[in-house]
Amino acid sequence: MAVTAAKLGAGIRTEFPILAHTTYLNSCSQGALSHRVRAAYEEYLNGWDENGAEWGVWVERADAARAAFGRLLHAESAELAVTTSVTQGVSGIVSALDLRARPKIVISEYEFPTVGQIAHAQELRGAEVVHVRPEADGSIPPERFAEVIDERTALVCCTTVSYRTGHRHDVGAIARLAQGQGALCLADSYQAVGAIDFDVHSLGIDFATGGTVKYLLGSSGLGFLYVRSGLLPQLLPTQTGWFADEDIFRMDISDYSPAADARRFDAGTPPVPNIYAGLAGMSLIEEAGTAAIEEHVSALATRLIEGLDELGAVVATPSDPAHRGPLVCVRSTDVRALVEALAAERITCSEREANLRISLHLYNVEDDVDRVLDALRRNRSLLAH
Ligand SMILES: Cc1ncc(COP(=O)(O)O)c(C=O)c1O
Repeated sequence: MAVTAAKLGAGIRTEFPILAHTTYLNSCSQGALSHRVRAAYEEYLNGWDENGAEWGVWVERADAARAAFGRLLHAESAELAVTTSVTQGVSGIVSALDLRARPKIVISEYEFPTVGQIAHAQELRGAEVVHVRPEADGSIPPERFAEVIDERTALVCCTTVSYRTGHRHDVGAIARLAQGQGALCLADSYQAVGAIDFDVHSLGIDFATGGTVKYLLGSSGLGFLYVRSGLLPQLLPTQTGWFADEDIFRMDISDYSPAADARRFDAGTPPVPNIYAGLAGMSLIEEAGTAAIEEHVSALATRLIEGLDELGAVVATPSDPAHRGPLVCVRSTDVRALVEALAAERITCSEREANLRISLHLYNVEDDVDRVLDALRRNRSLLAH
């Protein structure tokens, strides 16, 4: 697919109606709606109207989503499950773990609630959950993981980019530490995939998960689970369903015979409308190219962090591009009031704990960064110093 500079920045903004009137810096919550995604929903509805139940087309679309996720992660389609959420993928993984042999699950303090809650739910099955806490500067270096990963560890969860602070874990190094002890490593990459070039094979991680509602520009209700192919023969999820069967349409109720590939982590009827939307959103990302998007987003984040430093703001996110992703977090004395003050100027950001979250994506431009910096200058009293 042709990758041209015209497919990001100023060259793509008219594809997103909201950008005509709003400074949109909230892709960490939800990507902006494009004409292409709206048209994809129409296509789904038109097919339903004209042809009734299009099961054959739907299964083909689910496999097209599997292939698109594979391309975005630099993986094979056969290593991808199509899910409805990160939650489904993580539940599938833990359902395949033998916690009698290895009861320990290690999670970083930056995991999204769904990961922490699923890990702690395994305590009912005998699991011990160990948290890895950040250093004083907010980072969690691989050495902190090394201290707690041992031969009793089944799974290590290290989100790629923290949804709370914007810190980026060295997931490749953490995966090597986990594997050195015979454990598996999961990187929840919802806050990364689509905005950075993410190569699961070169990172060497065992599992990666995410979804389409944020940087993949689709809707809620569609996600992916990458499973390293060498692991598949030994992983049998007990959270399963008929779309995970080796032959979906045999309608067999006599045994459990999951697909040989990562489709064994699929579950029930695919989320078809969300797949139409997700494919359209992902096509915009693929046309721009993830390497070009990462470069674009990183330059904007650098401009933003430099401007915040000039304002004397406390930036929670590291300034080193290697240790951050598309999300920049700034401490506030009253973050609700700050989000509202920005919204009054048609600048959309979000909040987590005491942090204002400003996230950057392919459609953002320098002018967006300068606008939010100007607005923060006017609302300086709401910034922590
Ligand atoms: C890092 C991260 N993981 C997971 C989720 C959501 O998980 P799910 O798809 O299960 O709703 C989000 C955001 O909503 C997120 O930011």
